[in-house]
Amino acid sequence: MIERLVDPEVNEPIDETIDTSLRPKDFANYIGQERLKKNLQLTIAAAKKRNEPIDHVLLYGPPGLGKTTMASVIANEMGAQIRITSGPAIERAGDLASLLTNLQDGDILFIDEIHRLNRTVEEVLYSAMEDFKLDIMLGKGPSSRSLRLDLPKFTIIGATTRTGALAAPLRDRFGMIHRLEFYTPEQIAEIVHRSADILDVEIVPEAAAIISTRARLTPRIANRILKRLRDYADVNGKGMIDEKIAADAMALLEIDELGLDPGDRLLLSAIIENYDGGPVGVDTLAALIADERSTIEDFYEPYLLQIGLIERTPRGRKVTPKAYKHLGKKHNM
Ligand code: ADE
Repeated sequence: MIERLVDPEVNEPIDETIDTSLRPKDFANYIGQERLKKNLQLTIAAAKKRNEPIDHVLLYGPPGLGKTTMASVIANEMGAQIRITSGPAIERAGDLASLLTNLQDGDILFIDEIHRLNRTVEEVLYSAMEDFKLDIMLGKGPSSRSLRLDLPKFTIIGATTRTGALAAPLRDRFGMIHRLEFYTPEQIAEIVHRSADILDVEIVPEAAAIISTRARLTPRIANRILKRLRDYADVNGKGMIDEKIAADAMALLEIDELGLDPGDRLLLSAIIENYDGGPVGVDTLAALIADERSTIEDFYEPYLLQIGLIERTPRGRKVTPKAYKHLGKKHNM
């Protein structure tokens, strides 16, 4: 698999000082997701007044839009401790038991990729979330016994790219389910200026505007591009990111005016050239471009749908006239 600059799936390491410092720590510094912030601020204010933890929260949406960041903002605003784990990291019920019994009242447990929890772990999680009790089986066969432990009053914040991938009983145990939206280009430009201040690099508004339309409306990608432009400016200029530096570096990075990289263009061209624009099923597409179905669904599609280059139909994916135009291809009809 080729490494892609625009791959929002690659989480920045949370403990790397620079990346952590780019993440906003409170609502006041978190740009965008206004509706979600309003809802959460209300919930947090009410919970604080009652001196209770907040209800379990499920955040979903494409990668890179700030689910992990929002979870740590919630913890910070609650004055709570946060532990971070992920679905695939909790392999057995015992792993979950150990995580849960080590929590304290009011703690937040963030589970990234919660749709990837296995069934046995998921079942233990149900009663833990519902009644703060942990049911564990001791032994196997006729001599086995079950044990019920009291747990502290904790909050689970789950993150997933698609709610559809989550088992309904698990989904039902979240008191709040919120979708993170793509950012507007104006919000991305604001984030770029904020990050540039923190990184102590000068960037002109025209250059921030170039990033804002080419970062797939995703802060993680905008911040990553900003760092590459800073490298480019340090080597090929005087350290300041001006319009020319931004445009030249984008060409070098092969990111076009709409934020598409060679991978996106390959996907669109494959639909146009092999299926006359579609519709084509996602599994066929995955085979055609030698990528995984989940990469197409979680990464390529949400953005291409958002900017209107593809459409989902009951018979598969179709490219739009805008995609033909963008790639400079003719429609044969
Ligand atoms: N850095 C990454 N995401 C951000 C956001 N939503 N607001 C401010 N800075 C960010």
